[in-house]
Amino acid sequence: MNFDFTEEQLAVRDAARDFAQNELLPGVIERDENAQFPVEQVKKLGELGFLGMMVDPKYGGGGMDTVSYVLAMEEISKVDASTSVVMSVNNSLVCWGLEKYGTEDQKQKYLTQLASGKKIGAFCLSEPEAGSDATSQKTTAVDMGDYYLLNGTKNWITNGGSAEYYIVIAQTHPEKGHKGINALIVEKSMEGFVVGKKEQKMGIRASDTHSLMFTDVKVPKENRIGEDGFGFKFAMKVLSGGRIGIASQALGIASGSLELSLKYSKERKAFGVEISKHQAIQFKLSEMATNIEAARLLCLQAAYLKDQHKDFTKASAMAKLFASKTAMDASIEAVQIHGGYGYVREYHVERFMRDAKITQIYEGTSEIQNIVIARELLK
Ligand code: CAA
Repeated sequence: MNFDFTEEQLAVRDAARDFAQNELLPGVIERDENAQFPVEQVKKLGELGFLGMMVDPKYGGGGMDTVSYVLAMEEISKVDASTSVVMSVNNSLVCWGLEKYGTEDQKQKYLTQLASGKKIGAFCLSEPEAGSDATSQKTTAVDMGDYYLLNGTKNWITNGGSAEYYIVIAQTHPEKGHKGINALIVEKSMEGFVVGKKEQKMGIRASDTHSLMFTDVKVPKENRIGEDGFGFKFAMKVLSGGRIGIASQALGIASGSLELSLKYSKERKAFGVEISKHQAIQFKLSEMATNIEAARLLCLQAAYLKDQHKDFTKASAMAKLFASKTAMDASIEAVQIHGGYGYVREYHVERFMRDAKITQIYEGTSEIQNIVIARELLK
């Protein structure tokens, strides 16, 4: 078993680290405070190839592997989890799904724009009454011959306002249950599509989360991804890959929490010595580091399996389950280690604690990850 990274993987990690320090760190607190989308930063991420990392270069992507994606996601998330969720959704839920299941025309028209970062994508599954219970789609896509007539509302959509292209999951044949669901590519400019209110969130505040409304939107038949009725399976497969991205985001929040805690504990003095000399702090640092290492290995294992074209459903759910808990625990401990300073904005860790929570909720709650893992075990 080889735990070494290749030179290319290390170069990607270093480039992501430099980008995070030079382009994301300045202004990260203000963007969080003002819930301001990182427009310029996302544009630069696209220029560097970080928005379509795993896509074939012939479609404008970076042609990198999933291991590199994990490394980059960790580095970006160490500094700015709002920006990393934009990156994760575009890479995993939008580009990967299109490349794997889209037609050549869809790839030429949409993937080339999305993978190069010229346009941003969104993945629209959740509804006011269908979050975890994803088969209960109320949004309808009625077959009208040449086109689908799309009606419904989607909720909590990441990149909801900033995206140009949306993959929308909708019910076409209600009598067939999940086998009647389709995935359609919808353009922002299509008539009847309205971007609804922006959510005011606890964390990842600089990311752009909206509800979306579709009223009699005519979506051409050629915009359906896969066979008629493939939409639910498509969503499940894409989410399995997406969970590697969110697990890596959680990993980054956790390792960012540890890095800041190590630095602070070597500077801050209490009872005459640096607080790092107190066992009470050392135990926390040690627990954090051990869990982070385990989370990293789970993320890399899931990425490795995906790169080997092996089944990664269980591995990605395990990575997300464990890494998101690690992010939550590590960020809480980071606030504790920082004491009063941890509770104020300048020291970053209170933001990490707020950002960590969403990693236990989106792309399947921790409870959903347990269901996915248990099903795979009991198969
Ligand atoms: N891969 C491939 N197929 C899968 C699958 C997977 N991982 N999981 C389920 N399926 C298939 C099943 O095999 C079944 O197909 P067949 O009938 O042909 O056998 C079909 O899908 C239906 O499966 P179930 O009967 O098991 O469905 P269920 O209703 O019991 O739900 C679930 C399964 C795992 C709970 C699923 O609903 C789920 O994952 N829910 C969570 C959804 C989610 O993650 N939402 C997050 C929104 S996206 C987001 O957050 C993005 C963002 O903005 C950041």
